[in-house]
Amino acid sequence: VKTLGELARQHGRYFGSATDNPEFSDAAYLKILGSEFTSITPGNGMKWYATEPQQGVFDWTNGDQIVNFARRHHQLVRAHTLVWHSQLPDWLTTGTWTAEQLRAILKKHITTEVRHYRRKVYSWDVVNEAFNEDGTYRETLWYNTLGPGYIADALRWAHEADPHAKLYVNDYNIEGIGPKSDAYYDLVKSLKARHVPIDGVGVQGHLALQYGYPATLEANLRRFAGLRVDTAITELDIRMLLPADAGKLATQATWYADVTKACLAVRRCVGITIWDYTDKYSWIPGFFPGEGAALPYDENLQPKPAYDAIRDALSS
Ligand code: G3I
Repeated sequence: VKTLGELARQHGRYFGSATDNPEFSDAAYLKILGSEFTSITPGNGMKWYATEPQQGVFDWTNGDQIVNFARRHHQLVRAHTLVWHSQLPDWLTTGTWTAEQLRAILKKHITTEVRHYRRKVYSWDVVNEAFNEDGTYRETLWYNTLGPGYIADALRWAHEADPHAKLYVNDYNIEGIGPKSDAYYDLVKSLKARHVPIDGVGVQGHLALQYGYPATLEANLRRFAGLRVDTAITELDIRMLLPADAGKLATQATWYADVTKACLAVRRCVGITIWDYTDKYSWIPGFFPGEGAALPYDENLQPKPAYDAIRDALSS
């Protein structure tokens, strides 16, 4: 029987999972992680708080562990993430910086981290979650101090440090067409016009049954292909109000299949990553109390209806 990764490969796509370092002590978990998927993403291990915990002091322990696992299992690595407003180290968030200082800090962080993983990762989520729901720029440390130009700068620095890595911007609630995905459309168009290195848009895909399926997903992916960038579903999970029941799990399965088909239908949607593969390690219950059961494998690492639905979608 073919794995999800092998089935996706028949379409020239990868099928990946996020993972996190604490999970590396779980042998049964690792067995599936290493066999079923053709790409992995560190859920936390490459974020700023982990990689530059003190200013100018870099720690690659967690990222390297995941990259080494990927190498042993012939998996791509979607590296995540360089510029974000969350999970920053204390020294960075509590310091007061001039624009000039912060620009130098950002450049050094990007250059050092991207160089370290040069030729070892397939892609980078260079800038994560840069926009608000209404399509205005999110007022982060980066935007407030550096202005919107930080995005182009970050992409250029990353490209200089690893010319082969595919460079992405990545966000949630941009599955369908709306003000927030429009902001990305305009951003990519403008970056392309200025010859800024941008290769892809990452559509996270944190969906919830109670909010409805993003019916314009496929059309949205297609319009980005029209801008000559790749797209990827980068953090897919489909949560529900607990307790789960057969009906909800069946709907969830349909949604997983529909997302898979949408990606396969669009040239330049290069792959799908689920935000870990088992409910055992999902971030959802910790962030949305009363919600969960979001992934294709249950807490006991048993495949759910969603797993079969993805297989079917990849098999046709
Ligand atoms: O490392 C500490 C540990 O020392 C402490 O004992 C423990 C107690 O809560 O917390 C640990 O930190 C947690 C960290 O993950 C590492 O496990 C944080 O509390 C927790 O908030 C953090 O959550 C991560 C979240 O990003 C933070 O926003 C999730 O694991 C991670 O999956 C999630 O991933 C994000 C993507 O990067 C971007 N898109 C959204 C996605 C989901 O939020």
